Amino acid sequence: MPDSAFQQAASQLGSIADTLARDGYLIIPDFLPALACRALVEECRQYQQQGEFRPAGVGRGENWRVVPEIRSDEIRWLKPDDCGPMQAAYLRLLEEYRQTLNRQLFLGLVEFEGHCALYPPGSYYRRHLDQFRGVEQRTVTAILYLNDDWCVEDGGQLRIELDGQGNHIEVLPQQGTLVTFLSADYWHEVLPARRERLSLTGWFKTRPIGDIFPLA
Ligand code: OGA
Ligand code: MN
Repeated sequence: MPDSAFQQAASQLGSIADTLARDGYLIIPDFLPALACRALVEECRQYQQQGEFRPAGVGRGENWRVVPEIRSDEIRWLKPDDCGPMQAAYLRLLEEYRQTLNRQLFLGLVEFEGHCALYPPGSYYRRHLDQFRGVEQRTVTAILYLNDDWCVEDGGQLRIELDGQGNHIEVLPQQGTLVTFLSADYWHEVLPARRERLSLTGWFKTRPIGDIFPLA
């Protein structure tokens, strides 16, 4: 499938960045057309058949652990030099988003890291922030959902807390929906999914703080 499927999405990036600056989060249904999403699903399925998904962990570096009580999804990292043509096109779109965010919000984002995430039936990701404690690198979160005909009964909603007062929104992981938010500002969780749930999830990162203010 040609990049044209992504052009319509690319044309929205400027206004998405504006809304992110104003509100801190936004949800865009039908960000990508169904045809593109189905092709992305096919590529994820190939990784699945090749046994390339691994249990997701929490923490970083030495503190990385698989903790099924916290999260029970499986992931395969998106590697620009080892991915299908649709994922490569999606990564190019995200690169445009990164540049747009830097131009309009002066965020100084230097890279993207992300993965395909597969939640088998019954799996979840408990309440968390996307930033690792004391490391302010993950700055903007972007999640694209790939599941057709998702309904409330299927569970698996992304619940985003809007304040400390219990106000929240719940997003269905419906094919083509993009969710993006400031990673440091929103506690969120994935409610238990009753059917398999696929997404492409990732983060735009700034440089590690130690690079900017070296200690020695
Ligand atoms: C994550 C996450 C949310 C989702 O992977 O950090 O919060 O809806 N995912 O998949
Ligand atoms: Mn998260």
